[in-house]
Amino acid sequence: MSVDLSVNIGSLKLKNPILLASGTVGYGNEISEFVDLSKIGGIVTKSISLKPRKGNPPQRIVETSSGMLNAIGLANVGLELFIKEKIPFLKNLGSTLICNIAASSIEEYVECVDILDKEETIKAFEINVSCPNVKEGGLIFGNDVKAVAKITEKVRGKTSKPIIIKLSPNNSNIVDYAKIAKQEGADAVSAINTLVGTSFDIYSKKPKIKNITGGLSGPAIKPVALAKVLEISKEVDIPIIGIGGIMNWKDAVEFMIVGASAFQIGTANFINPKASMEILDGIKKYCQENTISKISDIIRTRKI
Ligand SMILES: Cc1cc2nc3c(=O)[nH]c(=O)nc-3n(C[C@H](O)[C@H](O)[C@H](O)COP(=O)(O)O)c2cc1C
Repeated sequence: MSVDLSVNIGSLKLKNPILLASGTVGYGNEISEFVDLSKIGGIVTKSISLKPRKGNPPQRIVETSSGMLNAIGLANVGLELFIKEKIPFLKNLGSTLICNIAASSIEEYVECVDILDKEETIKAFEINVSCPNVKEGGLIFGNDVKAVAKITEKVRGKTSKPIIIKLSPNNSNIVDYAKIAKQEGADAVSAINTLVGTSFDIYSKKPKIKNITGGLSGPAIKPVALAKVLEISKEVDIPIIGIGGIMNWKDAVEFMIVGASAFQIGTANFINPKASMEILDGIKKYCQENTISKISDIIRTRKI
């Protein structure tokens, strides 16, 4: 039985709902040795900022129970090099390219979108207003409804490409942020970015991460992410891209049933770089075994 795996995120059409999450596959080069990127729905780039960023000093990563903490601090090549060196590789992937943008001021978000809008290879923007690991920008915006409103409104004015606002779980009511994103013209929201966490060494009594806190990701956060997707889905009529602890096809299907139109694979790429291909096989088989001819039919079919 053939299955239609395509999904729509507003005006963005994906051949299937599988996206690779920002920051976990760089600009696609390394993962392309393991994954046929033309077969998956799309790839979300590491957050790009106007100027290159070195990120935080090491140690930047530590493993935790059922997850990991990272405080990379948005290390990236910067916009100029991204356009010159990374886009040409990404162009030939045959995979939908979503460019994730981070900034330390509203003007910087706007300038980045303005410049990158001319790049045909980029099919949508994911606006990171939720990085917990940088001093300016990131969570300062993600925890301020007015700032998220302004950023969404301003970037909307610069592009007709789909805009996805990436929401933080580190605030009191994620629904308010999803509502404001929709109101200001975003096409979709993605949820969630990492949860603030920390870890200490009991002998040195020092934090294991130089930045002291980091963002928690992986299976440990899946129930939190699902609950956030559920909350948004109940309250706001906007496509949701589910992210958080998806390790296998069952996790992915769960997110779609709860309310996600598509989903992103993050930490799983570090453990098993072929995870997204296995998830593709898994969701196809699930549809076949349950005589589902279109995967989009399972979106939001939760029974509550
Ligand atoms: C090492 C690492 C780096 C990340 N860098 C970014 C980033 O640059 N921009 C961003 O929006 N999210 C970033 N994230 C967050 C992921 O895209 C994702 O939202 C989060 O890890 C939860 O999904 P997961 O549990 O499947 O990993 C990063 C995550 C990890 C683990």
